[in-house]
Amino acid sequence: MIPPKELLQATDAYEWFKEMRKVSPVRYDEERQTWDVFCYEGAQKTLTDYKTFSSQMGGGEISLLGMDPPKHKLYRSIVAQAFTPISIEKMEPRIEQIARELLSARVARGEMDIIADLAFPLPVIVIAEMLGVPAEDRELFKKWSDALVADVDIAKGQTAMELLERKQKVAEDLYHYFGSVVEEHRKHPKDDLISALLQARIEEQSLDEQALLSFCLLLLVAGNETTTNLIGNAMLTFLERPQLMEKLRADRSLLPTAIEEVLRFRSPVQSLSRRVTTDTVLNGQQLKAGDRVIIWLGSANRDERQFENADQFMYKRHPNRHIAFGHGIHFCLGAALARLEARVALHTLLQQAPTMALRDSSTIQPLQSTFVYG
Ligand code: HEM
Repeated sequence: MIPPKELLQATDAYEWFKEMRKVSPVRYDEERQTWDVFCYEGAQKTLTDYKTFSSQMGGGEISLLGMDPPKHKLYRSIVAQAFTPISIEKMEPRIEQIARELLSARVARGEMDIIADLAFPLPVIVIAEMLGVPAEDRELFKKWSDALVADVDIAKGQTAMELLERKQKVAEDLYHYFGSVVEEHRKHPKDDLISALLQARIEEQSLDEQALLSFCLLLLVAGNETTTNLIGNAMLTFLERPQLMEKLRADRSLLPTAIEEVLRFRSPVQSLSRRVTTDTVLNGQQLKAGDRVIIWLGSANRDERQFENADQFMYKRHPNRHIAFGHGIHFCLGAALARLEARVALHTLLQQAPTMALRDSSTIQPLQSTFVYG
């Protein structure tokens, strides 16, 4: 995705979103030849109407994210079972164990890096175990998923073409890696997601190599960076508010609602893409078949017409109809897992560390991306 120039230049993306919601909640950017949707209502409409706003972006519909019905439903149902709230609930003891193991040594040391020591390894270990790939390879996954969500690095004089080439190279490395993991599972099936994918049939056909690998890639990349950022964003938000931190420590049943508010207030996924299939009107604007649309979830989740005091973090906010996990048929498959991982991570941290404070807030840098926020 090529980000809007104004956003790259903005010192605070949320301030810029606010301005855009005021002056042009749905606008066409000539330079990128793209529609930008900043308002909640427009975002929800776009995500609901999958017939007019297709997920097929022209890069081949190999991943669930880029499929439309009826194909989308067939593919989603293959893995849906593993991600239902009931299946996910069963994983809680194991997730707790991983969180405790990651934390015990760090907390005793008296200081930690929330991202490197907890927020990054926890979701990678969990999804690696679900898929059946060695969690030891997590540094590789991190390198790859970081590269896949990166934007054009203007500071380094990078061009859009160079970024695309780099992403293609990373995708090749990933396919190569998973190719051998899948081969191993073919020879020795186990009780994990890769083995389930190998057994799956769509219209009596097993998945071809590409479909199989793109599933693995999607689960690994979609779920990691995002959940890492949810945990990091939550900790930053709580550490900035010491009184809230004390409230959460005293009553951890407040955590789930507070996590929902983090999802709204600092949405880990900031933008989604769609393509217009037939001429349509959105917010009074005429969109044409073939046009590209970017839906700014980060902005929609701060829309003052939907959320009272939208720029305030309200840990008990209710109702909280944020769309941080998307909306409609592509609603995040891993939402229950991400919520559970965040709750367990934060609960364990509050339990094990009797006091917590930011050592040096000046060292905290936002990610260089307009796609993810962390
Ligand atoms: C889809 C966000 C965690 C797997 C999505 C979408 C969003 C999203 C916004 C919709 C994409 C679209 O409409 O184009 C998030 C956030 C997460 C998170 C904010 C963490 C806080 C996870 C996890 C997994 C996962 C842990 C799995 C391990 C998926 C999959 C889809 C998806 C497979 C595609 C669903 C479909 O196309 O039907 N996610 N996600 N996500 N997510 Fe997540």
